[in-house]
Amino acid sequence: MNVERTKVAIVGAGPSGLLLGRLLERHGIENVIIENRSREYCESRIRAGILEQVTRDALTEAGVADRLEREGMVHGGIYLNFNGQRHHIPMDELTGGRCVTVYGQSEIVKDLFAAREATGAPIVFEAEDVSLDGIDNDEPVVRYRLGGVEHEVHADYIAGCDGFHGISRDAMPDGYQQLYLREYPFAWLGIMASVAPSTDELIYAQHPNGFALHSMRSASVSRLYIQVDPNDDIANWSDARIWEQLHIRMATDGWTLHEGPVTEKSILPMRSFVATPMRYRSLFLAGDAAHIVPPAGAKGLNLAAADVIVLAHALADRYSSGSETGLDEYSDRCLRRIWRAQHFSWWMTQMLHTNPSEDAYGQQLQRSQLEYVCSSTAAAKSLAENYVGLAIEQAVSA
Ligand code: FAD
Ligand code: PHB
Repeated sequence: MNVERTKVAIVGAGPSGLLLGRLLERHGIENVIIENRSREYCESRIRAGILEQVTRDALTEAGVADRLEREGMVHGGIYLNFNGQRHHIPMDELTGGRCVTVYGQSEIVKDLFAAREATGAPIVFEAEDVSLDGIDNDEPVVRYRLGGVEHEVHADYIAGCDGFHGISRDAMPDGYQQLYLREYPFAWLGIMASVAPSTDELIYAQHPNGFALHSMRSASVSRLYIQVDPNDDIANWSDARIWEQLHIRMATDGWTLHEGPVTEKSILPMRSFVATPMRYRSLFLAGDAAHIVPPAGAKGLNLAAADVIVLAHALADRYSSGSETGLDEYSDRCLRRIWRAQHFSWWMTQMLHTNPSEDAYGQQLQRSQLEYVCSSTAAAKSLAENYVGLAIEQAVSA
């Protein structure tokens, strides 16, 4: 049995666990990250791609934004496509100059791993049978097995950053958390394609055949999505069939979608979920461990970053001044921002997807909503303000 002690034990090396670890390091707070998958697996997991300014600033503050500064693509707007027409939402003009940055989550994870490797801060990969204990008597411990050896990490606090399917949320007592869940009758089929993007900014398309999105990862890599049935099988989707649907759903006069080799394709489930409160004694949940949003609002990664920014500051206060106010307020402060993003993500989802069970009345409401957003500055401003993301102060002050 190998026993060690640290201040904060972090479960999960996704964006939230890695960024938290890095921010704590910058505050001189020792921490250990325990991850159950391999580094290669974590680095190759393709997920989000849009960073709010707040997320970008946090990565800069964490000293891991050099490559992001060079390779990230700053976007000041998005396109909405419906009824064969393309409309531009100039988010920067509508929000006093705020923008988003296109930079893949897998690149952020690589940058954070490289930074952790450089400082030598402890991180364990391929930990087996990870479990939490001692939360009830405030002697928290993370247990795991590695190479046949049992390990215990004793800590002051545990940060559960282990995503939706992790073990941390379940370590809270039964019935302690209130769970909010909404499921949707659709999923996204996402592809990565080796072809220059056919657009300068993202295109979100609503079409009777279903939603489509044209995003990107670089000047030579496109990321595209189409709405599919959640029970559909990826084997039913040849590359040719996917491109056909992308052409149909995003069509607009005078514009051509360029095709290229598909290097990855998968079907992504979609749900809205919140578990509250996000703290039980010395256990704090952050990121997807506590909440999930459907991806149409591009908020999942950004919410994860916002949680750990608040948590890192609260822990820094606790260790520098002994004040527990930040820790006590952690859940409420995060939840105000989370619920705003929950609403926005739900709103974008229902505005842009084709719901197979929607009646003719609902379809007219959806069309009216789209037309309103594309013709009213007030409506467009509301979309833009949420999409670029609220400042943390704005979202957290009551
Ligand atoms: P995760 O990224 O899930 O990281 C959790 C980490 O914990 C993982 O490394 C996992 O291996 C590890 N872990 C799990 N269980 C254990 C355990 N028992 N012990 C130790 N470690 C454990 N958001 C968007 O904004 N846009 C998108 O396009 C988008 N696409 C997505 C596609 C998919 C398939 C998924 C699942 C999510 C997507 N998201 C998207 C959401 C976004 O990627 C997440 O919000 C973000 O990854 C949250 O980061 P996290 O660190 O909280 O959780
Ligand atoms: C992505 O690039 O993967 C992406 C972009 C915008 C979204 C969702 C995903 O709303």
